[in-house]
Formats: sequence, structure tokens, C-alpha cells
Amino acid sequence: MTHPLPSFPTARLRRLRQSPALRALVRETTLAPSDLIWPVFVMEGSDAEEAIPSMPGVVRRTVDRIGAAAREAWDLGIPAICVFPYTGMEARTEDCALAWDRDNIANRAIREIKNTCPDIAVMTDIALDPYNVNGHDGFVENGEIVNDRTVEALVKMALAQADCGADILGPSDMMDGRVGAMRQALEEAGHRDVTILSYSAKYASAFYGPFRDAVGASAALTGDKKTYQMDPGNSDEALRLVARDLSEGADMVMVKPGMPYLDILQRVKAEFGVPTFAYQVSGEYAMLQAAAQNGWLDGDRVMLESLQGFKRAGADGVLSYFAPAAARALNG
Ligand code: PBG
Repeated sequence: MTHPLPSFPTARLRRLRQSPALRALVRETTLAPSDLIWPVFVMEGSDAEEAIPSMPGVVRRTVDRIGAAAREAWDLGIPAICVFPYTGMEARTEDCALAWDRDNIANRAIREIKNTCPDIAVMTDIALDPYNVNGHDGFVENGEIVNDRTVEALVKMALAQADCGADILGPSDMMDGRVGAMRQALEEAGHRDVTILSYSAKYASAFYGPFRDAVGASAALTGDKKTYQMDPGNSDEALRLVARDLSEGADMVMVKPGMPYLDILQRVKAEFGVPTFAYQVSGEYAMLQAAAQNGWLDGDRVMLESLQGFKRAGADGVLSYFAPAAARALNG
């Protein structure tokens, strides 16, 4: 504290907490629907939805239903939607060729959203895991996740997504050099205004479990992702990764997971002052929903409190499966 307080009773800090009006007036951070990015899951088929048991309230939708979902989000004031594809074992190969196919479900979903609701920003995920036989974000050679060959594939993926109309590319793979390679390829292809929100500080986390069910990766994944995702014990390393990604052309950066890593979020925002996002991941969502379903927590209140915590820690926005529910609650 740089300003010492006068002593009691001159200073009564409860004065400013006495009414909703005064509390609203002095609130330091606020949460709005415009702070949210909504991650959604798409699957093959038509006119159908499927529940994801480990993420109560979240569904996979067929591509023909994704436009309506985007429209609903936009009407709630949510500025961006992030598309993740569900892929069964039959879609997975060693060479991951489906990853840069302009007609894969993720790319069809991008086009569908842009046709139905052109205003909403469409974010993508760039990593090989939905298309890889072994569930890894990169190519596996002799048991190792290889970097440079993977980056070449990720660049093809980025170009396909940009061609399909993506506004925000989200490299979530944690390979070295991918942001620079993508930025250069995008410039050369004339996609100068496509933005990159890099998953810069992405930890090797057990909180991704339900997501891997949602996208069909749990059965495929062999081993863990610790040779490319960050060690949960590290903090300085997150700053190096953010500095690196910014220098390579990232427009925005992300810290992931969210709630257990608010210290990282705060350091990143304080150090760089760039648009910084947090991902409240599947396991965080599952944990809050499970407690709410048991009547152990007030679901609406913990949803909003957890999202506000990200803002207070310095986030410019949050990717959250709660996005539509939170926007509805905020819009009253
Ligand atoms: C894939 C990817 C993952 C998530 C986002 N993109 C999973 C992983 O790295 O294994 C996790 C999101 C969540 O848990 O909600 N590269």
C-alpha cells in the first residue's frame, strides 16, 4: 500500500460497501458478455445434438446446427465462438491429412457460421490431436513428438482455416516456431488481417480430461503431453513463451488452464500489457457443474464469480463453456 490509511474511525472501509449503488460505483472490474469466447464442439451427421457426460450442459452439434448456435451467442452479446471438431478413430491417421482438408468438419463449421452469422468472430484450434491416430498434437516418430515436421503441417492447417473464413487462429499445440511460420505463411497468402491468439502458456494439465472425451481423443491418446505442454511448477517460463510468441507475430496470448493459473495470468498481463485471455477449461467447468448439480454450490453464483476472477487477475477475456449461460445471467 503506497497510501497509508487514516486510522479508525476516520477510515471506515465498510462505508463503501453499504449499498448496491455504492458497491456498483466503486467496483474495480466488471464482467460483460463481450468478455467471453464460447468454445463449441461439432460432429458429423445432420440435425442432431449429443450430450457429453463429463461436461453436463455441453453438447456436440452437427455442422448444420452450428450457425443457429452462433447466432444465439451473438444475440447474447458474445463476440466470438471457438470451434472444436469431434473425430472418431476412423478419421485419425498417421499423416493427419484431414487436418488441412478444407472440407473437414471444423472448416465446414467455420463456413457455416460465417454464412449464418457473419458478424461473430470465429476462432479455431490448431493442433493435430483430432486427426492423429495417437491423439498427440504433433507427429510421433519413434515415440517422440517431432517439432519441425509438425510445424509444417500446422501451417497448412492455419491456411485452410483462414481460407474458410476464420478470424482468430488458436495454435494450441505448443510446438516451437509455429507462430512465426504461420504468420509468414498468412502474409504470403494475402491473409494479412487474420489474427493469432496463441495458446502461449499452456500447461500439461489433468483439467483437460473432459475435453478429451468431448473431442474423442481420450481413447486415442497414448502417453502424456509433457514434452510439449508446460510443467505446472513453472512461472518464469510462461513469460519467455509469451515474449517469444509476440515476437513471432501473435496478436493475443492465452494462459491455460484458468483458475489454478491466475498467478500466471496476472504476471503476463502486468509484464506485457497485450490482449491476454484465460481458458476456463473443461475440468474447471465439470468441477463447478458437478458441485452445483449436487446442490453443494450455487451454480449461477460460482459461474459468475469464477469468471469475474479472471477479469480481476487481468484477463481481457475468457474462453468458457459457461459463455451463453453467463451472458444470459449478465443480461438479466
Ligand atoms: C488440443 C486442445 C486441448 C484443449 C484445447 N485444445 C486438449 C489438450 O491439449 O489435450 C483443452 C480444452 C479444455 O480442456 O477445455 N490441443
